[in-house]
Amino acid sequence: MVLLSWVISYLIGSISFSYLISKKIAGIDIRSHGSGNAGATNTLRVLGKGPAILVLLLDAAKGLLAMGITHLLTGGDPVAYAMSGLFAIAGHNWPIFFGFRGGKGIATTLGVALGFSPLAFLIGAVLAVVTIAITRYVSLGSLILVSVLPVAIYVLDKPNAFVWTSLALAVFAYIRHYNNIRNLLAGNERKLGDRSHRKL
Ligand code: G3P
Repeated sequence: MVLLSWVISYLIGSISFSYLISKKIAGIDIRSHGSGNAGATNTLRVLGKGPAILVLLLDAAKGLLAMGITHLLTGGDPVAYAMSGLFAIAGHNWPIFFGFRGGKGIATTLGVALGFSPLAFLIGAVLAVVTIAITRYVSLGSLILVSVLPVAIYVLDKPNAFVWTSLALAVFAYIRHYNNIRNLLAGNERKLGDRSHRKL
């Protein structure tokens, strides 16, 4: 049952809502536009607020749904539950349905964080939003979020499996943000609302 729940989690994560929504409303592959990332930030950049909010919510819901199903199938085992969040993020980042070219996992991480601890989610999300509001770098906010989560989950005394899994999802996020980190260090990372990155 545990293995089955992880496979289901990976498959749920593999549903790339930014790809599906951008195809549906604009007939484009989001991965050929903007930053090339299949995620909410790039949807905002390319298609605007409405589609981006939809992608953010649906991608976050994937994490929660995967964990909810795992909870039901495994009777609440914390390791199975935590790992299913990680599998959902892996599906989002490397989706089996879309040539393994997905997003950076941040929206799905938000859903997983909510499943770990609403308070840790809130702390991470507030710090990320403040960072983005001040710097206009979504990637920096995302990296702050994933860095804060393991610490908050540890301090809040959540199960060890949640702490280790949130560390692993931070590693995923840092790997997926390799280009963003390089751009941030070089001072040419895309900022939210940049004129040169207007929507279609
Ligand atoms: O969540 C993804 C965000 O951190 C960066 O996205 O499109 O600017 O590379 P993007």
